[in-house]
Amino acid sequence: MKLMKLSDAIGIEATSIDLMHPIADSDFQRLYRGWLDSTILLVRGQNLTPEGLISFSRRFGELMVYTRSENAMRSYPEILILSNILREGRPIGAAVSGRYWHTDGHYLETPPAASFLYGAEVPPVGGDTWFANMYSAYDSLAEEMKRRLVGLKVVISRVQSRPYNYPDKPPVTEAERAAWPDMPQPMVRTHPESGRKALYVGGNVPWRIIGMPVEESEPLVTELQRHAIQSRFVHVHRWQPGDLIVWDNRSCLHRATEYDQIHHRRLMYRTTTVGDKPIG
Ligand code: SIN
Repeated sequence: MKLMKLSDAIGIEATSIDLMHPIADSDFQRLYRGWLDSTILLVRGQNLTPEGLISFSRRFGELMVYTRSENAMRSYPEILILSNILREGRPIGAAVSGRYWHTDGHYLETPPAASFLYGAEVPPVGGDTWFANMYSAYDSLAEEMKRRLVGLKVVISRVQSRPYNYPDKPPVTEAERAAWPDMPQPMVRTHPESGRKALYVGGNVPWRIIGMPVEESEPLVTELQRHAIQSRFVHVHRWQPGDLIVWDNRSCLHRATEYDQIHHRRLMYRTTTVGDKPIG
């Protein structure tokens, strides 16, 4: 197995490795360490079965069944299907997913640690995934800003984010409102394994900072969100069939781009590992 830098902004790529075969512990330790340090791992040219994806993902930690269970694979509920492919007139998975900058499960008390995305079928153009390095985004803040952010928390609210992220969906219902409690999260997150600090304010939603008037909170959150997605922190991944990417939700943001859903198919399988409660 060889490891090399994926881009100046973020990531490593592992080559000469077949994830359908067991990986020696020493190789896995190198892979895991490289992933923790660089926040995303790419492995190309794989031919993964659902069992293969699950067993590689389990090397990173316990798997969780994600929130949108209607898009889970029937015989493997740990696998979420992201796809526009229709069966009996309905998409077999989430046809539109993650088109805005985010970190998975930001609205959960214990968001997932790692997310794995395996591209089985990908469109020739578009349907890319962008990644932004939140260690670098934090490290590059002015010292004064770092001091200002100490101890600050934002309220992550699925109710507030719905019109920003899904403008085409109907307004939030009373049942959804009841099921989606507000979740206070630190704006700077200390990674539980690396001990490094990462910015944790993803998204395009002007989250409310607890204890701060809205006139002060909104511009601060917006400024940090703009800072976080500068091109120097971003890598654009153009998928090839057989690519697997593992990203660390504790230290990066990601977003998917559009593609021609009428003429092209995209079939992606996703797993996630259980994470920790974010610590500021
Ligand atoms: C996601 O946010 O998990 C979706 C990423 C993608 O489909 O590229």
